[in-house]
Amino acid sequence: MHIDILTLFPEMFHHVLRTSVLGRAIDRGLLKVNTVNFRDFSEDKHRTVDEPPYGGGGGMVIKPEPVFNAVEHVLALKERPESETRIVLMTPQGELFNQEKAKELAQVDHLILICGHYEGFDERIRQYLVTDELSIGNYVLTGGELPAMVVVDGVARLLPGVLGNEQSAQDDSFADGLLEYPQYTRPAEFRGWRVPDILLSGNHAEIEKWRRLESIKRTWERRPELLDQADLSEAEIQFLRQ
Ligand code: ADE
Repeated sequence: MHIDILTLFPEMFHHVLRTSVLGRAIDRGLLKVNTVNFRDFSEDKHRTVDEPPYGGGGGMVIKPEPVFNAVEHVLALKERPESETRIVLMTPQGELFNQEKAKELAQVDHLILICGHYEGFDERIRQYLVTDELSIGNYVLTGGELPAMVVVDGVARLLPGVLGNEQSAQDDSFADGLLEYPQYTRPAEFRGWRVPDILLSGNHAEIEKWRRLESIKRTWERRPELLDQADLSEAEIQFLRQ
């Protein structure tokens, strides 16, 4: 997968893209991420990217030219012009990013993420350029850069080979619509608190059953609204009704 990030602050991404799982995915060629400063695509000598809104009011608005030019530039450089590109605007007005959206975007060959900073976007960017608008939550940040990092991370870890242990993405919270079951590691007893005996029993069928039930209980306690969408058996639905 190839991701282009359009931002006025490319340096914000550099450490994140060199560290841990993302850094390794990039080194191994599983993922390619390129940052583009769209100020370089401004059309005037002052390299202006924003101006006050027509009609007055506070704040500044990102002009269409630098963003359209930068997107057209990265599209022209596409290695496989026939492959699908999604052009994603990071904005608190967007669709909420969730695990389902991460899975959807992980299927796409090329993503362009557009980050604003402090300000709004000229509406023509929304209307005539972008294919998706994404929000990472119901709060307002100073810019789209941190949200773009969230999206890159959430999508990249679903790409084949990126996580060392393929099992770990399958067992994730949300992978089956439920929160993950409780995990324990050594020691079996810590400050008098023991690991549940079942996990030490070596009985894998019973351990699977216990984990499934704990997942359902945890989801019921913390995020009951997720159960509407989860794939539960009749017996499991009965268990929740008790
Ligand atoms: N830009 C500012 N706040 C944001 C949010 N919550 N999601 C996406 N982009 C943003």
